[in-house]
Amino acid sequence: MTHAKPLIIDTDPGVDDAVAIMLALASPEVELRAVTTVFGNVPLPRTTENAGRLLALCDRSDVPVGAGAARPLVHPQRERAEAWHGGDGLGGRAEALPAPIVEPDPRGAVGLMASVLRAAGEPVTIAPIGPLTNVALLLAVHPELAPRIDRIVMMGGALGAGNTSGVAEFNVHCDPEAAHRVLTQTDVPVTMVPLDLTLRCPASPEWLDELAAGGPRCAELAQVVVRYRAAYRTRYGIDAVALHDAVAVLEATVPGTLATKAMPMQVACDLGPARGATVAVPGADGAPVHVALDADPDPVLAEILARLLRLG
Ligand code: BDR
Ligand code: CA
Repeated sequence: MTHAKPLIIDTDPGVDDAVAIMLALASPEVELRAVTTVFGNVPLPRTTENAGRLLALCDRSDVPVGAGAARPLVHPQRERAEAWHGGDGLGGRAEALPAPIVEPDPRGAVGLMASVLRAAGEPVTIAPIGPLTNVALLLAVHPELAPRIDRIVMMGGALGAGNTSGVAEFNVHCDPEAAHRVLTQTDVPVTMVPLDLTLRCPASPEWLDELAAGGPRCAELAQVVVRYRAAYRTRYGIDAVALHDAVAVLEATVPGTLATKAMPMQVACDLGPARGATVAVPGADGAPVHVALDADPDPVLAEILARLLRLG
């Protein structure tokens, strides 16, 4: 039996968040100690309920859910992502999933993360797959806990084109100030899994068919993806879906899956058209961020699918 590494997922479910959470639950290399929620694709009450429903679907109501930030740190959120994820965040299928079995943890996202970090016998991996507000707050409020975080593996940012503005990726665009705080701090190593890479790993119709045939939980997840797939057809003219968050969680689960390049990163936090852009700044202060720019898409997708199928 391999040793399971403690993991916290901070998330705004979200269709690809759902895939990512179920991937972590299916992976023996990690033990999911908490799911913390943030505003993002849809408002916070929805992302929190969706996290509870996904855990209930997988019979994992032992994993606590902590609700976090309902809005960005400084400026209001400019855009949500209902066009991709549906008004309920899960492609219109949220109500089809079992209701959450337990109430959200009274400690909230930051309190729950802090408790998990304090209680863990070894440093914990944190995988933020939504706006970075909760993680920025954790680092700001509990600097003493930084040595208890092994690494932060975040999905977000773009070195090339964005998906929310010409230059900004959604998670960073939602709260650029929080993303800047996380990417420029020097206490915890950060791996950034940007859009440039996740868009290169789209799941095909055949991949989705295999998922749908994998058992009742996998079939539910495949249903959650249907609307998202239609949005890809409309917006990009392709019949395939990027599983952004699952790619990051795979790296958090099996470190070294993605090839990274170290570069100092900064986030454009002005209010102009570049807001939310992640910019590599050679020679800048701060610890370099490990930016995942390369991976072989086929093995990545095969690995994600093989793991999900274990859930039945
Ligand atoms: C990111 O934005 C969200 O819509 C997805 O869940 C993912 O975390 C991709 O840009
Ligand atoms: Ca997300």
